[in-house]
Amino acid sequence: MEPKKLLLLFLFFLFHSACHVILTAAIGVNYGTVADNLPPPSQVATFLKTKTTIDRVKIFDTNPDVLRAFANTGIAVTVTVGNGDFPPLAKLPAAQSWVADNILPFYPRTNINRIAVGNEILATSDKDLIAHLLPAMKALHSALNLANITAIQVSTPHSLGILAPNTGPPSQGQFRTGYDKILEYHRQTKSPFLVNPYPFFGLSPDTLNYATFRPNGGVFDNATGMNYTNMFDAQMDAVFSAMKKVGHEDVDLVVAETGWPSAGDPNQLGVSLENAVSYNGNLIRHVRSGKGTPLMPNRTFETYIFALFNENLKPTLSEQNYGLFKPDLDPVYDVVLCVSDTLRPSFFKNESGPTSGPASGSSASTATGPAAMGPTRDVVAQPPSSTGKRWCVPKPNATEATLQKNIDYVCSSGVDCKPIQNGGLHL
Ligand SMILES: *[C@@H]1O[C@H](CO)[C@@H](O)[C@H](O)[C@H]1NC(C)=O
Ligand SMILES: *[C@@H]1O[C@H](CO)[C@@H](O)[C@H](O)[C@H]1NC(C)=O
Ligand SMILES: *[C@@H]1O[C@H](CO)[C@@H](O)[C@H](O)[C@H]1NC(C)=O
Ligand SMILES: *[C@@H]1O[C@H](CO)[C@@H](O)[C@H](O)[C@H]1NC(C)=O
Ligand SMILES: *[C@@H]1O[C@H](CO)[C@@H](O)[C@H](O)[C@H]1NC(C)=O
Ligand SMILES: *[C@@H]1O[C@H](CO)[C@@H](O)[C@H](O)[C@H]1NC(C)=O
Repeated sequence: MEPKKLLLLFLFFLFHSACHVILTAAIGVNYGTVADNLPPPSQVATFLKTKTTIDRVKIFDTNPDVLRAFANTGIAVTVTVGNGDFPPLAKLPAAQSWVADNILPFYPRTNINRIAVGNEILATSDKDLIAHLLPAMKALHSALNLANITAIQVSTPHSLGILAPNTGPPSQGQFRTGYDKILEYHRQTKSPFLVNPYPFFGLSPDTLNYATFRPNGGVFDNATGMNYTNMFDAQMDAVFSAMKKVGHEDVDLVVAETGWPSAGDPNQLGVSLENAVSYNGNLIRHVRSGKGTPLMPNRTFETYIFALFNENLKPTLSEQNYGLFKPDLDPVYDVVLCVSDTLRPSFFKNESGPTSGPASGSSASTATGPAAMGPTRDVVAQPPSSTGKRWCVPKPNATEATLQKNIDYVCSSGVDCKPIQNGGLHL
């Protein structure tokens, strides 16, 4: 192989230890289907499995076609019991028949790993739904146990509307009402607390850089002495602070939805392809870095980007454009994972060829946007490249030393490695 090609092979993990974490980090997508032009589920499953590094999806129903499509792919699937469907499941027999109808026919061939009961219920004002939520979660958990299934967790995603209105720093985060019961359930069943943080919804004109992980003045939390460099950390720490106040900071946190629209109405604040690339690209890097947040150092969060596709039947233009992919499976943009991986669209296993342009669907969430602070490393938002180059992914067990040896070999063989070194050219 000629040296130039070899160089490409090694480009993307060069000098950046976070990069090979790519292979193990848990990044998923929300596979929403409010559209009339999406490919059939079987094509989607094959695409995700063979062409991307995405190893988990969350769906907003229990569509049997989708569940069948993901059989034998190993891709983890979170299913959802619709808001209108879960109240009756508060009774055990109903929960058992729901499990018999919606889980048993597909599991374990389809790797269903979690049931989301409703979506963003507790921040609604629907007293009936709220009253039935925890009982339905408990009944479903019992129904699974009775079916001898212990590997499927039962949880429910929350918008940040669960936090009391708060314009203060993350340490001031607290729940609106008694969340200790639901957190106690999570502790007992070893299931995670699911949150949908959307810095996009916490945006103001002067926090765009802070919300999109670009360099910014940051936010100082004078109660903890912590400096926040991005709004995502601030939102997560506000949730963490609220959990801590009710004594349940040990419960796992999963980011069930987060994202940024790549297109919208002309004057809509913060909506652009560049901002979507910056937010999602930096978010993935950040989550995968294993750095955690100021109040949760070194913690990683399973994270589901919203959304897999642009969804053309969503009500507003921006809601239609949250997708990473267009219905024809072309990427809307590259999500850049490593400084040097502008050559490598993060989600693709071995080939680039992304195109630009607006695309995909969304869900609505409200979020309070606690401020956060500090300069952040800029990861350049990249318009998609269209070079169609190929490269390889290191083996999961490859050591840093081995990688470096290979890189050193390539770089000592007459190839110009400057662009991939610190301070080098950002392609
Ligand atoms: C669950 O496992 C127990 C013990 O192995 C067994 O007696 C029972 O029949 C199983 N129940 C179901 C629904 O498979
Ligand atoms: C932190 O700052 C707020 C206003 O920004 C102030 O009201 C509060 O007293 C300060 N707390 C401490 C511990 O300094
Ligand atoms: C946060 O920033 C302030 C002001 O820049 C600085 O004095 C302080 O040491 C920083 N705190 C941490 C924990 O980095
Ligand atoms: C986080 O990881 C770093 C690097 O491994 C380590 O130095 C630090 O002590 C860890 N912090 C905590 C709170 O575990
Ligand atoms: C690499 O991409 C080519 C063309 O898209 C595809 O045929 C091949 O199966 C891929 N290989 C892997 C290992 O994903
Ligand atoms: C890495 O795993 C492969 C099999 O996937 C094995 O052949 C190879 O010896 C392993 N290398 C190391 C350094 O463990």
